[in-house]
Amino acid sequence: MMLTAQAASAAAPLFAPFSSAKFSLPSRVVMAPMTRSFAISGVPAIAAPEYYARRARADVGLVISEATLVGRPSAGNEPDVPRFWGEDALAAWQPVVTAVNATGSAFWPQLWHVGAVRNPMVKWTPPAPPESPSGVVKPGREYGVAMTEADIEATIDAFAQAAAQARRLGAGGVELHGAHGYLIDQFFWAGTNQRTDRWGGATLAERSRFAVETIRAVRAAVGASFPICIRLSQWKQQEFAARLAMTPDEMLAWLRPLIDAGVDVFQ
Ligand SMILES: Cc1cc2nc3c(=O)[nH]c(=O)nc-3n(C[C@H](O)[C@H](O)[C@H](O)COP(=O)(O)O)c2cc1C
Repeated sequence: MMLTAQAASAAAPLFAPFSSAKFSLPSRVVMAPMTRSFAISGVPAIAAPEYYARRARADVGLVISEATLVGRPSAGNEPDVPRFWGEDALAAWQPVVTAVNATGSAFWPQLWHVGAVRNPMVKWTPPAPPESPSGVVKPGREYGVAMTEADIEATIDAFAQAAAQARRLGAGGVELHGAHGYLIDQFFWAGTNQRTDRWGGATLAERSRFAVETIRAVRAAVGASFPICIRLSQWKQQEFAARLAMTPDEMLAWLRPLIDAGVDVFQ
């Protein structure tokens, strides 16, 4: 890319190395997670290592992967979205991690469970019904089943297992997909979390329990020094006007327990 001298000078800080207590990056350019839909039955395609390494070589200091599914039968309904579990998929992620690491940049997989929001364009049906906090996609629209206590515990464990695998493969960190109206966000949002047990509640703090417990489990699985990022959003694809925090203080009250549970980075 050709920049004018003025633009190059203004952009220079972006290309300076970044260093923090837990990780260092050769530049501050971060590639956002982007679903690519090129996996085959959940296994990253053979071209994936070069796809990611090409971005890393082009000054991206941190490559966050396309969203990858955690080990629950209904984590997603797209077979061309990769999994981060199973020997076949993990064996295909290994050269991706190795290829990005070889450039000096970092690779962090994004871990995903879609909850009640499935891609309506895809006809493949997972071997289990959609699962979510209350079996609703949005207020008034029922879809799938409300998760049992055992489902919730198994899902938290699935996030932790995927994070442990990421570390084992040599990834520099992990990102939890807690945004855009998918499972973790479905617990945050009162519109999709109507539970009356300990996983629900009238306050955002109460509805954050699933995220907090997931982060704690991930932290326990990866150890103290491995970076954990969570992606958050106010808006939901089911409801763009949704807001979880209305003021900076409410935002801080939302984020603080996530930090205390083990989050290092917010996206
Ligand atoms: C094709 C495509 C796939 C995307 N897939 C994901 C994804 O898997 N995970 C995610 O968190 N965001 C995903 N996003 C959102 C992007 O990460 C990003 O937020 C979006 O392109 C807007 O860019 P901005 O955040 O810089 O405004 C996707 C966006 C696009 C265009």
